[in-house]
Amino acid sequence: MRRIPGWLLLGLAAMTAALAAPLTVTSPDGTLTVSFMVDDGSPRYGVTRFGRDLIGPSALGFVIHGAPPLDRDFRVTAESRRTIDETWVQPWGEQAEIRCHCRELRIELTGAETAARRLTLVFRVFDDGVGFRYEIPAQPGLDSLAIMDELTEFALAGDHRAWWIPAYQPERYEYLYRATPVSEMDRVHTPLTMETADGLFLCIHEAALTDYAGMTLARRAGHILKADLVPWSDGVRVRATAPLVTPWRTLQVADTPGGLADSRLILNLNEPCRLDDVSWITPAKYVGVWWEMHLGTATWGSGPRHGATTANAKRYIDFAAGHGFGGVLVEGWNVGWDGEWTRNGDLFCFTRPYDDFDLEEVCRYAAENGVRLIGHHETAAGIANYEAQLEEAFALYERLGVRTVKTGYVGYGQQIRRVDEAGRVHHEWHHGQFMVRHYRKVVEAAARHRIMLDVHEPIKDTGIRRTWPNMLSREGARGQEYNAWGGDGGNPPDHTTILPFTRLLAGPMDFTPGIFDLHFPEARPGNRVNTTLAKQLALYVVLYSPLQMAADLPENYRARPDALRFIQDVPVDWRHSRVLHARIGDYVTFVRQDRHSDDWYLGSITDDQGRILEVPLDFLEPGRLYVAEIYRDGPAGDWRTKPYDLEILAQPVTRETTLHLRLAPGGGQAVRFRPATEEDIHPLKEK
Ligand code: NOJ
Repeated sequence: MRRIPGWLLLGLAAMTAALAAPLTVTSPDGTLTVSFMVDDGSPRYGVTRFGRDLIGPSALGFVIHGAPPLDRDFRVTAESRRTIDETWVQPWGEQAEIRCHCRELRIELTGAETAARRLTLVFRVFDDGVGFRYEIPAQPGLDSLAIMDELTEFALAGDHRAWWIPAYQPERYEYLYRATPVSEMDRVHTPLTMETADGLFLCIHEAALTDYAGMTLARRAGHILKADLVPWSDGVRVRATAPLVTPWRTLQVADTPGGLADSRLILNLNEPCRLDDVSWITPAKYVGVWWEMHLGTATWGSGPRHGATTANAKRYIDFAAGHGFGGVLVEGWNVGWDGEWTRNGDLFCFTRPYDDFDLEEVCRYAAENGVRLIGHHETAAGIANYEAQLEEAFALYERLGVRTVKTGYVGYGQQIRRVDEAGRVHHEWHHGQFMVRHYRKVVEAAARHRIMLDVHEPIKDTGIRRTWPNMLSREGARGQEYNAWGGDGGNPPDHTTILPFTRLLAGPMDFTPGIFDLHFPEARPGNRVNTTLAKQLALYVVLYSPLQMAADLPENYRARPDALRFIQDVPVDWRHSRVLHARIGDYVTFVRQDRHSDDWYLGSITDDQGRILEVPLDFLEPGRLYVAEIYRDGPAGDWRTKPYDLEILAQPVTRETTLHLRLAPGGGQAVRFRPATEEDIHPLKEK
């Protein structure tokens, strides 16, 4: 029998005439139940897992400018249910086939007094989480509406331990995660990951953010969280016309951190692919004129140390061609970087190269060598300037055979420049509706020109890559670059053990791993990369991205060809991905199977603590012999004292083998498992 949650029974006991009968919907295997009721005219929902509260009765609704609030005086006038069970295929991704299996409950609310007031709620309940969204149907007085507040609450059942970054701060999403009780948070970004006292893992986020404001979470009394939509500069949260469909509010639930990372709920709540032809969308690895600017040994702007010269780009192209990298990013190629570029976004020209960069010749040379230039559009938050050039800029790249463009929106706090119809300038947040619209406009423009995107300083990922698979990767957290110049000494060793369970629950991240020269005393004496070399390799498996950069300089790779082999081999497109074990902030081990071969890859990383982890290889195919090519920290390895101590070895393994991973403090391990060949088995056999 289905258990009725405690709060609902209490609610029932105190039932007044105004309390409508609760409606419940349970996930396919019975794990999760959503309950919905109208309490004295106000809609409320709650979530239980095996009958225990996860989310207690929580508010729903809106405050609309100049209209009666949409959170009261309602009654349920219709409900409908269906089961969705379909399997779809990602054109690229962390997993090829994805099953979407859930139960849906759709509830129509009508004004108790005025039948003209209407609001619809749709709940989808999966075994690994819940999504719900609002539909505001067309109705008199709401043709064009200004949402002043979304009232959605998440009344957490306890003061859970949470991993969070603050919202409304200058550096957007680029903060180190803090782990505190929920009661110590103020306003935070999503995904918000939590661990309950009884060892469950929860994540609140959103899916299919399309023409709406990004949702942050504000803590109310105790451990009740409330949607806090990032406002426009005039205080309006969302401008819309009815009918309006909001993004999905999501709650993912798992017994382990890995259960959260292996959940595909966010993608399942997005619309199917809108592009007819996706054959041009190809995940790839790339190198680029990039790290030298972050080290300060080259400049984005023109001058004697200009990084984006024709000759330097060709140097990277030669390296890419020689080592199997598909792309070469060149930043600082276009006019606009001179002076304080972070403050002069309106000066960027996206079609005019600097005099020492021959764009056509670089593209020709790249093509001749089987490599493609990766374009770069840094806007420095000058949105009007960028939008005015968008078509021309993408058309130019398309003509030159550029298939991927990295965009950038450096700008601090509420510093996005919006120019209204009257020419007045307003300052917006990166995460409000104005920018959500802008980022989507760029995705659609790029798709028209058959261009893939890698967005830095992005809007958070909410799974729209399912609908727009040219939206490949994004930054949206502290990446490798902080190790070059972070004033706090860069990313501490635990940072990358937290990212897979926070930022990456939203989607792929362009972290830019693979720094081999971990110290740069001349360029940046106060900074270094706070890992071992083996950990840099493991990050290619741990931090999923369909675009993975080999971020270091060609000369640093040439100095360590054996370690480079792993970066050359590791794929960026997967058939399966799975977390084997993890403790958030301590360690994590991922395994992934190549989408285009029978190879498996393993990446395991640790924080400041060295550890031995046991990994049964039961993911390998039964009855098959594999060669494990292992890249691990040496016996003396330690990120502080011996970061370069790397052992590379090969050993035969089968599904019955258990590997003992030895991770140095701040270290990691990367393994390629390839089916053994005749030559592995009989190396000396004559042909
Ligand atoms: C910040 C980006 O994260 C980085 O990758 C880029 O090099 C600079 N902006 C310049 O666009």
